[in-house]
Amino acid sequence: MVRADRSEAKNIAMENLRTLDDIDVEGKTVLVRADLNVPMEDLNMTDGLRLERLAPTLRELLAAGARVVVLSHFGRPKGKFQAALSLRRVREVLGTALGRPPIPFSDTCIGTAAKEAVGNLEPGEIILMENLRFHAGEEANDPAFAAALAELGDIYINEAFSCSHRAHASIEGITHFLPSVAGRGMEVELTALSKALDAPQEPVAAIVGGSKVSTKLGALTNLVAKVQFLVIGGGMANTFLFARGVEIGKSLCEPGLATTAREVEAAAVAAGCEIILPDDAVVARKLRPNVANTTVDIANVPSDAMILDVGSKTVARLVDILGGCRTVVWNGPLGAFETPPFQSGTVAVAQAVAALTRDGTLLSVAGGGDTMAALAQAQVDTDFSYISAAGGAFLEWLEGKALPGVEALVRSAAA
Ligand code: 3PG
Repeated sequence: MVRADRSEAKNIAMENLRTLDDIDVEGKTVLVRADLNVPMEDLNMTDGLRLERLAPTLRELLAAGARVVVLSHFGRPKGKFQAALSLRRVREVLGTALGRPPIPFSDTCIGTAAKEAVGNLEPGEIILMENLRFHAGEEANDPAFAAALAELGDIYINEAFSCSHRAHASIEGITHFLPSVAGRGMEVELTALSKALDAPQEPVAAIVGGSKVSTKLGALTNLVAKVQFLVIGGGMANTFLFARGVEIGKSLCEPGLATTAREVEAAAVAAGCEIILPDDAVVARKLRPNVANTTVDIANVPSDAMILDVGSKTVARLVDILGGCRTVVWNGPLGAFETPPFQSGTVAVAQAVAALTRDGTLLSVAGGGDTMAALAQAQVDTDFSYISAAGGAFLEWLEGKALPGVEALVRSAAA
């Protein structure tokens, strides 16, 4: 049974956390949990947003005379060494982001060798430690592993919102051993997210797209209790249309979730949230670049065609609704945006959100890998109020779940 429950929402307001403003780092060794799980092709990084956002915290700590120890995971090596997943590959891009030569590197993140490497640092120097996930204790949140990490420093800084949905040793366990605070990037992220859903200016719209209802059911259920308009797009909308009895031809759909979709609709009605589904759609016989396509009213989808994007009527309606909103939260594209021309609906709506944000009438927060790619394609990625580089963590936040990494900082601040 899907039920919208306002009491489940977790408030992540910054006033419950400590930040760099609350600590003195001069001469101290600070452990910074970063997310260096960045897209790499050989030694080149294909998207620098995470490092761009990490760099100010590292620079601030170095300028304040801290010894900085950067901890991160890279990929999913499942507790075993894998040369291809060594963080050594990231030294150079991290150095570039900081305007320094490649960062010194330690082949292990715990034990005598790690302690020795960290012990050699002077104030104002930085070192990158090897992939945390080469140790099974990291993902298991093993207290012994967390304690071994904590032995390296005096203060812990979580600068990895994008990993904070993981109750791992470097995210949660370590906060039991060291004074723990949020880094600058974490601070900015939590402030933006809090403004968007915890204490938003209303009306609030959420745009949730992507292919499958099953992956975003928790988010939909949480959002109907929090927003006035819930726009459902992408393949997910097809399941909702199917549940309403609309003929969707050969479109991607999860028929087994029709009952769940109807429950989400009922929960939305009960919470006073309007669910917006496409009024028209761009359809084609195949999902192929530049394939012949046509726009039809949603009641007229041919039985041998697939819905691949929202149509112009839907775009106009969404732009109109967003024009009356003060806040929008966006996760997931409205169509098959990787395949031209089915990015058009997403791009048009993204450009409208960007314009409203620039005009100062809308606070816009977006997140998730596909969403970032779609907004970059619409060339509006610098116009939104905030774009989160987090994938899973952003989705769990949309689901209203407590994030172990954030909870740990709150607990540490209260201790
Ligand atoms: C991410 O890239 O979303 C984070 O680094 C988390 O990675 P994970 O899903 O492997 O925990």
